[in-house]
Amino acid sequence: MTEKWEKKSTLKPKGLDGISDQQIEYHFETHYNGYVTKLNEIWEKMQTVDRSKANQNYSEFRELKLEETFNYDGSLLHELYFGNLHSGSSSAPESFKSAVAKDFGSYEKWLEDFKATGIAFRGWSLLVFDLNTGKLRNIGADVHNTNGIWNAIVILSLDVYEHAYYTDYGPKRAPYLDAFMKNVNWSEVEKRLQKAHKAYEVFK
Ligand SMILES: [Fe+2]
Repeated sequence: MTEKWEKKSTLKPKGLDGISDQQIEYHFETHYNGYVTKLNEIWEKMQTVDRSKANQNYSEFRELKLEETFNYDGSLLHELYFGNLHSGSSSAPESFKSAVAKDFGSYEKWLEDFKATGIAFRGWSLLVFDLNTGKLRNIGADVHNTNGIWNAIVILSLDVYEHAYYTDYGPKRAPYLDAFMKNVNWSEVEKRLQKAHKAYEVFK
């Protein structure tokens, strides 16, 4: 049976502060939707691809495998991104601040590093819970399926591709990062953090 990734339309945020509905519409319906569509197409083709012709220089099987993780991670990171945004500004709760303070020194130092990662990379700034060590880390990624570490759970996902902010900010990325932080759904972030701690209990 062919595996299928379902597009999660309920995750599309509306009425954000500093990120317009038009910006979200382009991002959600063109980019996120594109990754889901291609992932499902790849999974369909995987059913019949000739594995006996697998070749590291070029083969249809290799190309499908390469683009499978690109589109899988593209779908996943976008769902995590849209899922950790909501309308109604709020500041980070004390529980989150103390969690990042443990590994970064303070909330402010974490935020400085998270935003700098968002400026320094071409695709993503991600706060992850590293199951190998039980620590929180900020990871930058140029492409959906590169630069990560294995066994890490995404806690906060920030898309810094131009397509995430050009409609609203043109080439100015810094004000978009500030707008993103104003719209973080902290209760979703807390849920992910709690799940990561539970996973760590069985993983360590
Ligand atoms: Fe994106």
